[in-house]
Amino acid sequence: MTIEEKIGQMNQLDPSWNAEEKEALIREGRVGSVFNIVGAKEVNRLQRMAVEETRLGIPLIAARDVIHGFNTIYPIPLAQGATWNPALVEQAARLTAREAYGAGIRWAFSPMVDVAHDPRWGRVAEGYGEDTYLASVMAAAVVRGYQNDQMVNGKMQKCLAACVKHFAGYSASEGGRDYNTTWIPETQLRDVYLPPFKAALDAGAMSVMCSFNDLNGLPSSANPHLNIDILRHEWGSDALLVSDWGSGSDLVPHGLVADKKEAALRCINARMEMDMQGNIYTDYLQQLLEEGKVKESQIDECVRSILRMKYRLGLFDHPYVPEDQPMVYSSRELAVVTRTAEESAVLLKNDGVLPLSVSKTLHDQTLHDQMVNILICGPLADQPKEQLGTWVFDGLPERSVTPLMAFSEWADSINDMSPLAPNRPPVTLLYEPGLTYSRDRNREGIARAVAAARKADIILYFCGEEAILSGEARCRADLDLPGSQCEMMDALAATGKPVVMIVMAGRPLTIGAQAEQAAAVLYALHGGTMAGTALCRLLTGRAVPSGKTTMTFPKMVGQIPLYYNRHNTGRPSYDPPMLIDSIPIGCPQFSIGQSSYWLETPTEPLYPFGYGLSYTTFEYGEPEMEQTQDTLFVSCAVTNTGRYDAYEVVQLYTRQLSGDLVRPLKELKGFEKVFIPAGETRTVRFDLNRGQLGYWHEQKRDCESRVWFATDPAEYEIWVAPDSRCTTHSVRFSIEK
Ligand code: GLC
Repeated sequence: MTIEEKIGQMNQLDPSWNAEEKEALIREGRVGSVFNIVGAKEVNRLQRMAVEETRLGIPLIAARDVIHGFNTIYPIPLAQGATWNPALVEQAARLTAREAYGAGIRWAFSPMVDVAHDPRWGRVAEGYGEDTYLASVMAAAVVRGYQNDQMVNGKMQKCLAACVKHFAGYSASEGGRDYNTTWIPETQLRDVYLPPFKAALDAGAMSVMCSFNDLNGLPSSANPHLNIDILRHEWGSDALLVSDWGSGSDLVPHGLVADKKEAALRCINARMEMDMQGNIYTDYLQQLLEEGKVKESQIDECVRSILRMKYRLGLFDHPYVPEDQPMVYSSRELAVVTRTAEESAVLLKNDGVLPLSVSKTLHDQTLHDQMVNILICGPLADQPKEQLGTWVFDGLPERSVTPLMAFSEWADSINDMSPLAPNRPPVTLLYEPGLTYSRDRNREGIARAVAAARKADIILYFCGEEAILSGEARCRADLDLPGSQCEMMDALAATGKPVVMIVMAGRPLTIGAQAEQAAAVLYALHGGTMAGTALCRLLTGRAVPSGKTTMTFPKMVGQIPLYYNRHNTGRPSYDPPMLIDSIPIGCPQFSIGQSSYWLETPTEPLYPFGYGLSYTTFEYGEPEMEQTQDTLFVSCAVTNTGRYDAYEVVQLYTRQLSGDLVRPLKELKGFEKVFIPAGETRTVRFDLNRGQLGYWHEQKRDCESRVWFATDPAEYEIWVAPDSRCTTHSVRFSIEK
């Protein structure tokens, strides 16, 4: 390869604009990958330029932001995490890969695994929440789904290369402001932010994407500690490292370098291997080589990485994708989309009003308490596009089933069957959005919704955020329901009719006051194409909620950052508050459920991590434990004490009670989503090895074994619990030297 051809491989361009100029570069062999080109025919057209018109015929990789589905959209990743069902998330990724492959896409810029503690940050929607362990499990599931089941003769066929991002620490942006500075001590980088990347790479992720943030003053694209010390030397990864969009050229506004030529030097010295849309390698790398500032061997190791990924994808054997085989979801595959939306919805409150019907099947739906006049209202009740959520370039809103559509079909179905149940009055659906979009401040429609509510037996209020309010560069300074949605809730509640609040958003919102007014709260986040069908099935009792939160819900923004696995501090908040308490001034009084309470402590959330109700109830027995030198065997009997067969997410938490460093109050170390029929008991077992209790010890670095985590000999506590409050019995154990 000539130097020009080598540098060409390191260049990734978006030819969806300035196409002529970029296609000329492809023909000259000076582009290694394109992104944002969709459609097998169009991708093949550009691929022919690379394969048939250049000297070496090296194929391009076509990439796209395939984040939670392609044409058919799954719940946003924050919601998929709330399923706590990695097998389901893996299946969603597998079907996504097939649909994207049919459109010529071979490289997805996901999973995004940034562990997030600040819901003001718009990109919490794209990740799996605040917990490192849960994010690690989900990251690996997505990689397996994208890549691993289409291996043929050691090469990927019909699959999507995963790209784990953003490496690293992006979600710690100060103030939840996107692209902002991050200050992350090594112990926190190692224990909190890096493990999900390692989990994705261990699952076979073929690429990694740099992040926009400066990490302790050094932007990731030019950070040898991240990109060489850790990624290459410690982890031994040979995955391709691609910049984020222009994150290499961003070194100039960062103030790290004076110009783009120096940016190119700093990036190649930090082994950023492919430059997404930054043009710094094509513009300056050859000059730097001629000036002796860059060695050709540095370029070679980047190009080798790129060619290796193309080889693994089978692109040299099969550079073109079939143009007559678009993947169309069958009803069986759509059922996976619906199931994912069902399992991602979290029931936060229910005074007994849900489910609307006590029967589990459609044909004998008998609405209890004669709730036959149902008002469907709210700005998210019939929004095919908004319910898809953020990062949806190729999602088809015309495929969406909205809540209004689903309930209309449901009402028609059971009314059609009225001859089967002559004494059952027909269901009447009323529809008044009240507000036309989530930020709507025109309150005229609220009066119409209230008038309709007076004729209804029950109100289903679909509220939340438009899709545009979350995602990249979509941070919010407050987390209240936007627009006049709170006022609409006030008006609906004032009618005295029971209000079921269904929230479709891209993040946790401070909905405490509204939740107090509601009879029930179902937090669905943005549930994707089949959100309406899923919510209708859950609300009418044909499915039972099983989701659990993946981020702590603050009562108010002033509490942020607020997350479950925090440190206790030397002056933990007392209940009731003491004079020396760190309680933030001005915290409002809320009464959620039966008891009123002040913000007893600054750390008391609205809803905790791992929390979610069911239509049934579960009872946890005493955990039993056996211990060998290296492993803990923990088991716990969980009984379904209610009337609905249901899934429960059984969670395992530990706490280290002393050590070389202060350790978190609790840490999720395992979970299992288990189906338990009504009245029955299941015993859930966890095996926990001592290494999983380890954490980063600067002073105990053991370079030989390349394992720089160590487990302190100490006293520990362990819970098997339904959520991070760990109100169940705990067991103590010791780890010896
Ligand atoms: C964006 C995002 C990144 C995305 C890339 C390509 O700026 O930060 O997540 O994959 O550019 O669109």
